[in-house]
Amino acid sequence: MIIARSLEELQSAVDAIKAGGKTVGFVPTMGALHDGHLGLMKLAASKADVVSVSIYVNPTQFAPNEDFDSYPRDVDGDLAKLQTVGVGLVYLPRTEDMYPNGTEITVKAGRAAQGLESDFRPHFFDGVATVVHRLFMQMRPDVAVFGEKDYQQLQVIKEMTEAENLTIEIIGGETARDAEGLALSSRNAYLFGTEIASARILNRVLRDVATVNENERAATIENGIRKLKDAGFDKIDYLTIKPEWDRVLVAAWLGKTRLIDNMALSA
Ligand code: PAJ
Repeated sequence: MIIARSLEELQSAVDAIKAGGKTVGFVPTMGALHDGHLGLMKLAASKADVVSVSIYVNPTQFAPNEDFDSYPRDVDGDLAKLQTVGVGLVYLPRTEDMYPNGTEITVKAGRAAQGLESDFRPHFFDGVATVVHRLFMQMRPDVAVFGEKDYQQLQVIKEMTEAENLTIEIIGGETARDAEGLALSSRNAYLFGTEIASARILNRVLRDVATVNENERAATIENGIRKLKDAGFDKIDYLTIKPEWDRVLVAAWLGKTRLIDNMALSA
């Protein structure tokens, strides 16, 4: 496994892969890796010759009041996990590699970014689109894999890739869940005590909404919001259906932790 700790190191590693005629399957991450991330790497391995991963906690997608400083970081643990899934190249950029002119936003996310997350985190998707575009330019992948866990993000990236006319195939990977259905997330590390049991309600509420007939959806959503509040969720940013995506999506706060999840409609 090659570890590139700067843009120069990355460029020589990518040049060597390309010179060997091999394709690159890329999984961008912010680290604190769990089985959900590792599943995306296995998917990437089935689509390309070499799997590459980036670990970078991107400052431009955090608002000043958000958890950039406290976001979980464990590069040594992450590298050990990456060894177990056959990753060929890991990129650990420095901020000057990603933002040589300061942490400015240079790519604007498109229509898919409207509503949902953007109503609560207005700069989030511009920050994501900016860093992913830069990572794409630097990594030059053939294929890139993103999780359906962040469903709106996946749509934003697909749209950006099309709009920029990049010849990168964007693939969505299924959401990895624990035995009781809680979507794996680096932010689950913030949950303690009874919050974990409460968090598991999220997936049950989504399933309720996803599986009822269309005419019962509104009532089931109301009911779901009540269930989340009863379970200890303090604030529900949204629990809603996005018909164009055939999905129900949720974002809600448990104490200081904001959790998101979504599910395909299956009624
Ligand atoms: P991060 O939250 O580290 O997630 C990296 C990738 O893993 C994303 O594509 C995300 O959707 C996926 N992922 C997270 N939890 C998952 C789960 N339980 N099952 C399947 N996939 C899961 O998303 C980001 O980082 C950043 O916004 C990034 C795209 C790297 C840009 O900074």
